[in-house]
Amino acid sequence: MFEALKPQVTKILSQEESVENRLLSVCDLLKKEIEHYDWVGFYFKNGDKEELKLGPYVGEPTDHTIIPFGKGICGQVAVSNENFVVPDVAAQDNYIACSITVKSEIVIPLFKDGENIGQIDIDSNTPYPFSEEDERFLEYVNEQVAQIL
Ligand code: SME
Repeated sequence: MFEALKPQVTKILSQEESVENRLLSVCDLLKKEIEHYDWVGFYFKNGDKEELKLGPYVGEPTDHTIIPFGKGICGQVAVSNENFVVPDVAAQDNYIACSITVKSEIVIPLFKDGENIGQIDIDSNTPYPFSEEDERFLEYVNEQVAQIL
């Protein structure tokens, strides 16, 4: 499944559309094609501030359009520079709930020229859905995205 999606991601990112629209199309593709992805979005560092700002996303609207570094799963990834896989959100202390239906989450940092400038965030309504394949695939997506930023 992931291998088949890679060329589709590359194709979307090479389209003559705004960056915003291309990222939105990538979110849309992932949510539609991957059954355990229920909310898919990008967060990016907000200028010089130590906070993340919500970018393109698909899924339920969230109140968390700004997340300070260190807060929640997203804010922790902004400072750790590492993938964060949460199989069960109920077991996390430093977690920002967006919807009661969400059971698990994966956040993968996005690097541009070696700098952590944002992340892709996936919420799932299924517990324990993510494997290393998700991590490798989402790292690929972020590498491709970095090339158009
Ligand atoms: N759950 C995230 C907040 C963002 S929402 O999932 C869209 C967190 O703990 O950082």
